Amino acid sequence: MSRVLITGGTGFIGYHLANRLSNQNHEIVLADNFFRSEKDADLIALLEKPNVKLVEGDLTIKESWDKLGDGYDYVYHLVGINGTELFYKIPHEVLRIGIETTLHVLDWFRTKNNKPEAKILYTSSNEAYAGALEAFGKLPLPTPENVPLVISDPYNARWSYAGQKLVGELLFIHYSKAYNFRMSIVRPHNFYGPREGYQHVIPEIIERVQKKVEPFPIFGADDTRSFCYIDDAIEAIQAVMESSKTDGGTYHIGTHRETVIKDLIETMFKILNWHPKELDIKNSPAGSVKRRLPDVSKIKRDIGWEAKVELEEGLQKMTEWYLAHPRKV
Ligand SMILES: NC(=O)c1ccc[n+]([C@@H]2O[C@H](COP(=O)([O-])OP(=O)(O)OC[C@H]3O[C@@H](n4cnc5c(N)ncnc54)[C@H](O)[C@@H]3O)[C@@H](O)[C@H]2O)c1
Repeated sequence: MSRVLITGGTGFIGYHLANRLSNQNHEIVLADNFFRSEKDADLIALLEKPNVKLVEGDLTIKESWDKLGDGYDYVYHLVGINGTELFYKIPHEVLRIGIETTLHVLDWFRTKNNKPEAKILYTSSNEAYAGALEAFGKLPLPTPENVPLVISDPYNARWSYAGQKLVGELLFIHYSKAYNFRMSIVRPHNFYGPREGYQHVIPEIIERVQKKVEPFPIFGADDTRSFCYIDDAIEAIQAVMESSKTDGGTYHIGTHRETVIKDLIETMFKILNWHPKELDIKNSPAGSVKRRLPDVSKIKRDIGWEAKVELEEGLQKMTEWYLAHPRKV
């Protein structure tokens, strides 16, 4: 049994990770201030488990860390401001919260956790390298971990998120070397699943289909992404954390299936058994990247992980959850 801290632990990834780890009888502490998550029925049920505890607090404030105790075997640092809309709305806060919480977690981990063999994991993002395409006009596809991290335009608010992830990766790499502790970095590539919030592409499609919106808008119809179901994703995150082979390394987590957004939406129409009469094809916002496909061979080679859930199967499960949990108005 391990003692585990998950920062940003009531959010999308944190909740599913905590559920999985608590079912394996680990002792879990979730730290969050509900900036972007909710104390909904799923979270309340999780918190009823005797081995799961919530510590509420703003992790940009140094004193919040004093409430978390010590002696953790594993620290998953998930806290951050996710959600594309927020990158445009509050880029300064995306930067401040990302960087302050990361500096605090690293200082707390090396001075207060008091467990020399403990390991810490950072969740970066594919956004950290996505600017390379705009800046240099090319990015290898599938994209491996060792491409340059690039902010193509610091005046475009979109890149606030990438900027703090880039700095976060540097902080993890150089603090862990300077102070000699174990860490790994993961870059999630479009995780999807139940309870991911309502301001994401798939939940928004579900809502529009339910409202039978005509003509049906499709943003960035020809763009591609690779979608990874949350059950696969958290299995990978735990595997990277618990292996010593991944110490000091950066790992892409995702699938090698490249999906065109228009095809994803057509699959959703099929699952929801409705098709609009007319489609309204719209351009994606400035700074959005046309194609994204991670090279996921490193994680397979080093620890044998690969995604198992097929897109249609994952979308079906996710749709069932969203139909049962419509957005509160
Ligand atoms: N979901 C994805 O596909 C994806 C892709 C790339 C990177 N990531 C990264 O993975 C991590 C987790 O992502 P997620 O999808 O679970 O996001 P999420 O928004 O659901 O979870 C983040 C959590 O951090 C909390 N938080 C924000 N500011 C805080 C603060 N000052 N103090 C305490 N808590 C605070 C929020 O309330 C939220 O619960 C994030 O760092 C995100 O950038 C996720």
